[in-house]
Amino acid sequence: METHVLRVDPGEPDRRLIALAAQALRSGQLVAFPTETVYGLGANALDPEAIERIFEVKGRPATNPVIVHLAQAKQLGQVAVGFDASVQALVSRFWPGPLTLVLPKQPQLPSNLTAGLDTIAVRVPEHRVAQALIHAAGVPIGAPSANRSTRPSATKAEHVLDDLAGRIEYVIDGGPAILGLESTVIDMTTPKPRLLRPGALPLERLRSVLPQLQGTWPAAPGSEDAAPSPGLQGKHYAPQAKLILLEGPRHAVLNYLRERFHQEQAEGRRVGLLLCSDDLADLTELAADRFDLGQRGKLGMAAVSLFDGLRQLDSLGVDLILTRSFGENDLGFAITDRLRRGASDVIRVE
Ligand code: TXA
Ligand code: MG
Repeated sequence: METHVLRVDPGEPDRRLIALAAQALRSGQLVAFPTETVYGLGANALDPEAIERIFEVKGRPATNPVIVHLAQAKQLGQVAVGFDASVQALVSRFWPGPLTLVLPKQPQLPSNLTAGLDTIAVRVPEHRVAQALIHAAGVPIGAPSANRSTRPSATKAEHVLDDLAGRIEYVIDGGPAILGLESTVIDMTTPKPRLLRPGALPLERLRSVLPQLQGTWPAAPGSEDAAPSPGLQGKHYAPQAKLILLEGPRHAVLNYLRERFHQEQAEGRRVGLLLCSDDLADLTELAADRFDLGQRGKLGMAAVSLFDGLRQLDSLGVDLILTRSFGENDLGFAITDRLRRGASDVIRVE
């Protein structure tokens, strides 16, 4: 199969190309498209065979349900039932945008979409291209991130092609994703709303509407804490290189990093650094491949380039990547979450 690339202006996407992609979706084909968070791999959410293909081409376990994307909040009743005042408040404040809500599902939806669960994850994306496409398709669109399972998410059309070329019918290239991290996922079916995945909408902002939001760190893969969201189990966001995440005070981390670099180099391994410019400036003496995540204080820049950085260092052929935690505040929470899940080792230094 040839994957066709439809190049559009993200500010004003060509209507004919959007209509073509929308028709493909309606006829059961797969179309990857940009959203403000990451690229999504879209299929008609009401077509179980199209949804089945999403699982096939991604290599995604059938136990991991898919997020449904709507063009407008007022369509929520088509896919979910029984939402209360707090859901309404979140929707009116944060949709369209990078927030996904888990709600009781409409019984008619295909069961493979929700991996057999009686809940459904829903969001209304803000990106112009996503908006235009879902409007034109006229059906809810099931869309996981457009990467092969376990790989870093795709934030550019070229990332989608790297993972899925020859497996899907279309990619709409609308330039890089704007935020670069997936949506924040909240379970609204529990007595108290619960964070399932930190994401591009920081908890601090969510709590302005939902002060009671439980914000503990989601259960680590394989841990005793009943994993609340199927997608939190198993390997995710991992580059091909071994990713090593360092946590702890900056000076201790940089000292460890220098030592580890020399040791790895002496053993013949090629090392990549995925760090902020402030840290890289203190490590100029190391002959390493580098990816600069921008200034430490500008978390939005690190978020937007994180997955690209992992993929770029991989394409240089490094054996391992050394990176540093972004803490747990604001967007740092979601960035650190992705690094922790993608890492082979998390090392705490004091
Ligand atoms: O920003 C995003 O959310 C992107 C764009 C394309 O919209 N989509 C995305 O989808 O990240 P995906 O499939 O990579 O991640 C969906 C997450 C998974 O962790 C999945 O387990 C969880 O949402 N999820 C989906 N349905 C669920 C449900 N009914 N209950 C609990 N978790 C659910
Ligand atoms: Mg994903």
